[in-house]
This record gives sequence, C-alpha cells and structure tokens, in this order.
Amino acid sequence: MPVLRRVADRLELGGQLGGARVGVCLHGTAETAALVRALVRGGATVDFVPSNPLAVHAEVAAALQQEPGVEVHLAAGSPAGHERALTAVADRTPTVVIDDGADLARVLHAAGAASAVIGGTEGTTTGVLRLRSLAERDELAYPVLAVNDTPIRHLFDNSLGTGQSVLDGLLRTTGVLLAGSRVAVFGYGACGRAIALRAHGLGATTIVCEVDPIRALEARMDGHLVVPGLEAAADADVVITATGAIDVLGTAHFEVMRDGAILANAGHFDVEIDVAGLAGLASARRTVRPLVDEFDVGGRTVVLVAEGRVINLAAADGHPAGVMDLLFAGQAVAAAWLTEHGAGLSPEVHAVPAAIDVDLARLALDAQGVRIDELSDHQRRYLVNWSPEPRSA
Ligand code: NAI
Repeated sequence: MPVLRRVADRLELGGQLGGARVGVCLHGTAETAALVRALVRGGATVDFVPSNPLAVHAEVAAALQQEPGVEVHLAAGSPAGHERALTAVADRTPTVVIDDGADLARVLHAAGAASAVIGGTEGTTTGVLRLRSLAERDELAYPVLAVNDTPIRHLFDNSLGTGQSVLDGLLRTTGVLLAGSRVAVFGYGACGRAIALRAHGLGATTIVCEVDPIRALEARMDGHLVVPGLEAAADADVVITATGAIDVLGTAHFEVMRDGAILANAGHFDVEIDVAGLAGLASARRTVRPLVDEFDVGGRTVVLVAEGRVINLAAADGHPAGVMDLLFAGQAVAAAWLTEHGAGLSPEVHAVPAAIDVDLARLALDAQGVRIDELSDHQRRYLVNWSPEPRSA
C-alpha cells in the first residue's frame, strides 16, 4: 500500500495526529490494520472495533492487539457483543471517528460521548444518508467528511475495484472463457461500466441493458450493444446485474435464457436476481461446485453464482489492496485534516475538500513513478484573462 505508506511517512514527520484518539470502525482486514498503523505513526492512539461482528480476520485482530497505541474491541460474533464493543470505544471518548455505516456515530450519540469528537469520516453511502438525516434534525454533534462521495473513491471503489474483482469472482467460480462470450451487464453506472469494460477487454462481446436513456446512450457510444433486458437474456452466455434495483432478472428472463447461461450479481444486495423465482421455475437444482448452482429450466440449464449475493465479496476477496490503498490513504489524510480544521466546521456532513483528492492523486502517481506537466504562469494567466499575451522571445 505505497500511497498509505507515503501518507504515514508524512504524518509521522508532521505529527498532525499527536494527542488524537481515533475511533476506527471498519472491516477487520489486513488493509485496515495498515491504516491503523499509519494513524499510530502520525501520533494517534487508536481504538479499533470491527464494523461488522463477522467481518474481522482473527489474525488481523491478534496482530493489532500487539501494536503499541492500539486497543482492539472485539465484537464477540453477536449483535449484542457488537454493541458492547462499540460502547467500549465510545467510553474511551474518541476525538476523531473513522466510520463505516455510521454505527460508531450512532453509539457515540446514544452514549453522550459525541461532543468530544472534533470530526469524523464516513465511508459508505448508507452511513452518509444516516448522518445527513441526523444533521437535518440538528442532532449531529460533530462535522463529518463524506469520504464515500469523492471522485477518487468513485474511481477506485465502484469502478476499478468492482470491475476487476467481479470478474475475479466469476472466473474463480466458473472458469468461463470470456473471449468469444456474450456478456450482458444490467446497469451502466460506475460498477456496470467497469464490468463491461473489463469483460470487453478480455474479448467478450458486451451487451448493456439500461433504463436511463443517457446511460444507455453512453454505453452505445462506448462500443457496447444496447438492447432490452429480455433480448439480452435470450442472447447472453453470462449475465451480470449491477443496478441497485430489485428483481432485475426474473422468471421472464430465466425462461428465455440459453443453455448454460451464467448469472451473477454485483449489486450491493442479493435482490437483483429473483432466486426464489428461479428455484420455483426449475425442475431440479444441483450445487456443482462451491458457490455454483445449476437449475434445470425447461430442458436447459441456468447457472447461478454465489446465490445471487454480491459476487466479488461472496466469491472473491473484494477490492484488491491497490484499491484499498488509495481509499485508506484518503481516510488518514482526512482524519489529519479534521484535527486541524474540524473545530471550525459546522456539525453537518461536508464534502471532502477537493485539495485532499488532488493531493492523493499526486501521491498515487508518485507511487507509480508517473510524472505529469504543470501549467506555466503564462498558460494560467491566459485561462483566467482569455486574452493571449505576447510570447516571450
Ligand atoms: P448507479 O446508480 O450509478 O448505477 C446503476 C445503474 O443501473 C443506473 O444507471 C440505473 O439507471 C440502472 N438501472 C436501475 N435499474 C435497472 C434495471 N431494472 N435494468 C437496467 N438498468 C437499471 O450505481 P453504481 O454505483 O454503479 O452501483 C450499482 C450497485 O452496485 C449498487 O447496488 C451499489 O451499492 C453496488 N456496488 C457494488 C460494489 C461491489 O464491490 N460489488 C461496489 C460499489 C457499489
């Protein structure tokens, strides 16, 4: 995680997090451990609680427990245990909060410990919505930076991370040869666009199904076939949903699918493919490999991956470390920024200052050894004044 390492080097040098007590509520992965270490190098004391009682790797928790300056509050695998762990973090009165779903914010507010917080970051869409509604009721006690909504986050999370890891899940489970296949992607948002692009890059003929005319036009101009869902279902070898909507693939689609068609979902919730409808339609169902089920439908076989759950998490490792590197470097920079500027912000959900994203992009380019040009003063003046100056001799 070279970008996070660069941020940690800088924080250590500047000591911006000196004296800060950071409450970190994130998935307990190795990448999260790297973020915690970066915060500690910047001078912070960290209380870590997994954002989901089941989402903690035992070896990561064990390693973090050995780190000076870190307290690990384990969730004990049950909702009640999770609440106790969150409350334990609230009892330590954090001054900065790194949240993932606003769970820690909820408990801090309930425990009356939110007033000690200078500022927080929130990394999920759901959490941002929850915190905004708290702010609308004048109940949010501290300013929050919506790290979920930054351009870099969108590029790396929804686009690059999802594009690669969804295909990773598909290939691990089915081993399908994408070259020469027809891959239909439902939804041409950041996720669908990235999946279609990657599938196309591996030699697939890509078909996009949309309900939004602008997105559909964009897909068409990007070189994909654009057809209604039922036509795509009848034509495709692989069908991937990435819409956020419900029942995107239903019985009408299953009835027309080709023999051996593979179905997978990349959307957040397992509602995009009507799995119950598929099971109801099928005369038989077999699990042929882990996470791969075959359904007999009208003399044909329809293959469902990971029971329609989000494929890159259910059947692969989620986002690559290279994606989490940028996202967590952003969290560390935002946390440090809040220690300096949080006191001057109103208790609302704020956009991350654009300068932080620019800074991260520069660090990421630097980490890859990529150099770019700078506008000259002459060019900068031209862009502001619109009138050409005489060229210097
Ligand atoms: P988005 O809202 O930008 O795009 C979704 C697209 O689907 C829109 O263009 C919409 O018009 C289209 N759509 C909606 N209903 C449709 C239907 N019935 N048929 C065809 N198209 C339809 O959303 P984004 O960011 O691309 O995310 C999509 C889903 O993926 C969400 O559930 C999101 O939470 C999830 N997600 C999954 C990730 C992963 O790692 N698997 C990462 C980030 C987001």
